[in-house]
Amino acid sequence: MKILILDDAEAVSARAAGEIASQLSAKPASVLGLATGGTMEAVYEQLIALHRDGRASFAGATSFNLDEYVGLAGDHPCSYRHYMAQKLFDHIDIAPGAAHLPLGEAEDPAAEAERYEAAVAAAGDIDLQLLGLGLNGHIGFNEPTSSLASITRLKTLERSTREANSRYFPEGEEPPRLAITMGIGTIMRAREVLLVATGEAKARAVAQVIEGPISARWPGSILQMHRQATVLLDRAAASEL
Ligand code: GLP
Repeated sequence: MKILILDDAEAVSARAAGEIASQLSAKPASVLGLATGGTMEAVYEQLIALHRDGRASFAGATSFNLDEYVGLAGDHPCSYRHYMAQKLFDHIDIAPGAAHLPLGEAEDPAAEAERYEAAVAAAGDIDLQLLGLGLNGHIGFNEPTSSLASITRLKTLERSTREANSRYFPEGEEPPRLAITMGIGTIMRAREVLLVATGEAKARAVAQVIEGPISARWPGSILQMHRQATVLLDRAAASEL
């Protein structure tokens, strides 16, 4: 693993956006793996700025997001499909139909997970996978005890994850209990992985993932086995290393 510790969250998101822009310029038809969450908002802001400056074109790219809540339609304001439209897709030149997320409202979510896994494989797998990190070490929605060989499937969210993500839901509405998520095996097939974590709250998970044993207890720790994984941290997230 390559570990880069930068001064602050702004430097981290600028670096992450720069890595994605470099990937696109080296291979315009890249298959990008995209993530959601608060950390990524700053990354996408920087990426949109690069796009506006003519330094990042998504015209030839395809993208697959990691995950989606089960039961939320794409136009639900808390769905990841809505997040991605608002935070990135509506501001860049990705071709219509080239940006994929699991369908949260699918009638048969298990079948949808299978379809999604097949679609990622049919696209030739991910060239560059962007990842955030959950407080419990999850990547995508691969919660602790996820099989380190798992593929896209339904996953029950931990209470701590639902609590952490409830800040994005309106008062009185709780995050769904189930999500469709790319598996850890799906993520590990990506040719390159970029894990981004900022802020002190992530310090424990960061330390476990980087320095702890490889274990399903801290799912991100499997990245120690990836051939080309970079971890981008600010000083606060790196404070327990
Ligand atoms: C959600 C997403 C993860 C993401 C995590 C971290 O749970 N499913 O992919 O890594 O949030 O989010 P944040 O950046 O808001 O801490």
